[in-house]
Amino acid sequence: MGKITIAIDGYSSTGKSTIAKQLAKLLGYVYVDTGAMYRAVTLYAMQKGYIGDEVEKVDELIADLSNINLQFEYNEDLGFSEMYLNGVNVEKEIRALPVSKLVSKVATLEEVRKKLVAMQQEMGKEKGLVMDGRDIGTVVFPDAEFKVFMTASPEKRAFRRYKELLDKGEKVSYDEVLKNVRYRDYIDSNRKFSPLKRAESAIEFDNSDMGLKEQLERIYNFALRKI
Ligand code: C5P
Repeated sequence: MGKITIAIDGYSSTGKSTIAKQLAKLLGYVYVDTGAMYRAVTLYAMQKGYIGDEVEKVDELIADLSNINLQFEYNEDLGFSEMYLNGVNVEKEIRALPVSKLVSKVATLEEVRKKLVAMQQEMGKEKGLVMDGRDIGTVVFPDAEFKVFMTASPEKRAFRRYKELLDKGEKVSYDEVLKNVRYRDYIDSNRKFSPLKRAESAIEFDNSDMGLKEQLERIYNFALRKI
């Protein structure tokens, strides 16, 4: 079987990463979660006091970007890779709401995007990869052989995210999560550098009323036709 590049983009909490992860497993491909990279840079900026609800030391963050070392490490027990920031496993912190609230802001910065896009292109040099994010089919791999654009209603997405966070023991309200989903949609779609939009050749996939099994089956069959 030949190896291709699969780009999965879409709005927050559309279940992109769940699908991308399982698709990669079925195909024996590498999976890369680019959201985790933007989240880890955001966590670093928070730890260093460069950003917060009321702080914005963007220039200092940009000057410090070269000190941010990001690494995905495969966890055998879990069956997927986890994000390490300067050698420390930050999986839990990067998924929590404080990071979700600030990440879209950090992702508007051109210098941050340049650094992460270059890393992503390097990771995908050999093909045989499924990458999910916001700009994979438009900017990172515009020549990807198979592109998917995932959507679902904000309410459905917020509900899924809310349940996920509750399961992890986080204390959040549905309204707070819905607000965050809407806020990120707005920032992601309206930013100056590589805004979220469907690549022309991407198939649009609305999964508001579709279970995981059916989604995976459909996307897997589409992918097989491209390989
Ligand atoms: O995919 P996830 O929700 O974890 O991404 C977190 C945030 O990172 C997004 O809301 C978006 O602002 C940013 N992002 C991005 N480009 C990507 C992946 C994520 O701007 N390729």
